[in-house]
Amino acid sequence: MSTIYQATASAPVNIAVIKYWGKRDTKLILPTNSSLSVTLDQDHLRSTTTSRADPSFERDQLWLNGKEDEIKAVGRLATCISEMKRLRKEYEIKTQMNQRYSFPQFHIASYNNFPTAAGLASSASGFAALVASLAQLYTLPASPSTLSLIARQGSGSACRSLFGGFVAWQMGSDPSGNDSLAVQVAPQEHWPQMHALICVVSDDKKGTSSTSGMQRTVETSPLLQHRIKYVVPERMEKISKAILERDFDTFAKITMADSNQFHAVALDTEPPIFYMNDVSRAIIALIVEYNRLSVEAGKGYKAAYTYDAGPNAVIYALEENIKEIVQLIVSYFPQRSGEFKDVLGLFGASSTDLNAL
Ligand code: DP6
Repeated sequence: MSTIYQATASAPVNIAVIKYWGKRDTKLILPTNSSLSVTLDQDHLRSTTTSRADPSFERDQLWLNGKEDEIKAVGRLATCISEMKRLRKEYEIKTQMNQRYSFPQFHIASYNNFPTAAGLASSASGFAALVASLAQLYTLPASPSTLSLIARQGSGSACRSLFGGFVAWQMGSDPSGNDSLAVQVAPQEHWPQMHALICVVSDDKKGTSSTSGMQRTVETSPLLQHRIKYVVPERMEKISKAILERDFDTFAKITMADSNQFHAVALDTEPPIFYMNDVSRAIIALIVEYNRLSVEAGKGYKAAYTYDAGPNAVIYALEENIKEIVQLIVSYFPQRSGEFKDVLGLFGASSTDLNAL
């Protein structure tokens, strides 16, 4: 009987506060700017991937939530799998290992513990979990930053999901991509009071995918050139410092400004791309007013909204204010079918149970 090798790994979703939007190399997935995100709690939105190797497998196969997904010959999945095989070979040569792996083919099954239809990024957690499970199967002593180089080639934002807490994706400058990787700015325990609320405004599938949208932005938006050169580098520095100092005011101001500028470059694209809808904009107005009143009362900023390539809001706030914010949002946006589906408390000790409020 032959031995079956199997390994399972999980990776959570991350939500950027400095947005990645634009590639300078579409094959290697090298970004036009650095970005920074917060990785959500393992318990909430995550992908879990099991990889199995058996000498009898004839080809690599992948199942996503129980349904087989084609591994296209030159696609991103195939790239990640072959890069992991290359890493293993390098490791065997380096360590002059006797035991050579004779099974080059994998069967991979990946599950998300959240509905893929919720309009929330599943590719980030998906590719991170895939790379992590293959690394485990291969018993590779690779660091999360090394693995991030490979996850990045699956989906750019996936490289940040290899770390928990606050994570930067350094754009790098080497054409090979070897310095375009994720590093941890601070672990989750550094600022455990930080929470994220996900407001599902719509679970419709988005109109323009991130991949094609950002490519169009790179080709047509003059504002993007200003953003990558003059805006993002300074914001990366300032927000990293704010995280290290647990300075919520600065964190909130930069997070909201960067979300606004990302949606501005989407609008500056030809033809323009709209990701937010009326409910998204109404939530922005509500948070702006809520912060204004709080600042006036001498209590500083209490909430920071951010939107990815879709209409759903993510609100970062400190734990002490979460209950008030959830009540505020629910009172302005009682559940209306198709417009405002749910509010989930994420990240940190426990999720907020809406029914308990
Ligand atoms: C708006 O990582 O999904 O969420 O690299 O083409 O797979 P590809 O794009 P993807 O883009 C994410 C864009 C974003 C911002 C972010 O997560 O930084």
